[in-house]
Amino acid sequence: MKDNVFLLGAVDWNRRLFDSLIPLPDGTSYNSYMVCGSEKTALLDSVDPCMADVLLSQITDVAKIDYIVSHHAEQDHSGSIPMLLEKYPDAKVVCTTKARGMLMDLLHIPEESFHTVEDGATLSLGAKTLEFIYTPWVHWPETMVTYLREDRILFSCDFFGSHIATSDMFVVDKGRVHEAGKRYFAEIMMPFRDVIGKNLEKLKKYDIDMIAPSHGQIYDDPAWIMDAWRDWVFAPPKNLVVLPYVSMHESTARMVDHLTTKLVDNGVRVELYDLTVTDIGKLAMSLVDGATIVVGTPTVLAGPHPLAAYAAFLANALRPRAKYLSIIGSYGWGGKTVETLSAMIPNLKVEVIDPVLCKGLPTKEVFAAIDVMADTIAEKHREQGFS
Ligand code: FEO
Repeated sequence: MKDNVFLLGAVDWNRRLFDSLIPLPDGTSYNSYMVCGSEKTALLDSVDPCMADVLLSQITDVAKIDYIVSHHAEQDHSGSIPMLLEKYPDAKVVCTTKARGMLMDLLHIPEESFHTVEDGATLSLGAKTLEFIYTPWVHWPETMVTYLREDRILFSCDFFGSHIATSDMFVVDKGRVHEAGKRYFAEIMMPFRDVIGKNLEKLKKYDIDMIAPSHGQIYDDPAWIMDAWRDWVFAPPKNLVVLPYVSMHESTARMVDHLTTKLVDNGVRVELYDLTVTDIGKLAMSLVDGATIVVGTPTVLAGPHPLAAYAAFLANALRPRAKYLSIIGSYGWGGKTVETLSAMIPNLKVEVIDPVLCKGLPTKEVFAAIDVMADTIAEKHREQGFS
């Protein structure tokens, strides 16, 4: 990357799911970095233990590692540290005080292997100075980043990461990385938006030439990705309705079609997700921006369709900044769809717009009620100045 600064790690081309939950359409990478000073050598983060052999094969000629910096205790970065310590038993694991406890619990790393650092502490490797910056809740409580002063490189771990498997060291296609980065933010970071905003502010005083995350490509022109994160964190919601839905006998689908048309006629953008086929990462990305969420669901077994319940549960967990929410859908004989869904979203600070439910296929009265819903949403977006 620069003199005596190296990208190591593993590219996981074939992984298609993270946390047994998050789709990875483009695979991912677990980046590890080596910084060689005139006196000491540091390895920054390891790799997922499923690819430890790849990392170990890259350092067969490295006789000594003095420090293993662990920015984050989650195992896709820390999981190979025990194998590294087997090879380099005198290496010290450098981490926050909170990470030490977590690494001891998660990976059974012995207490004597740690060198904890405070926020702002530095470590000289000889002609290379590592400065540690606490960045809590990106996206666990113990997270930090490292700034390499002489080279102005920020090693950011999950911060600014993107799940992309590629043979390119540096970002080549900003559009592609922007989409992958937004997906990453949506699925992992969105619930911690406020504290991430504080961490973004904290980084402002650093002169950063390069951001080296632990997933995806390195940013050798980092201003744009920092601006993108600022937009996802600080910008107001957009004039957008996110519409996840499922339909069993076409009634809900007709209501969704009608609402979509009316919203678009009213100048509101719509992003529609048929939950039987959708990629939940795409839905999560829409939730970064949407001012309004409308869930479309039939009633099944007296409640919302389980796929709609899943979408509501996911939205509740991701805590998007949407301001309005409503429900449309159908039923055959009755049920408590609205009550059940409403109880599933306590984390969403939204104003609820009157739901529209209908028995069987929608009638002209139902379509008229949907027209009112579309007008109401458009009016509220206009009042708030969402664009
Ligand atoms: Fe890439 Fe939170 O681990």
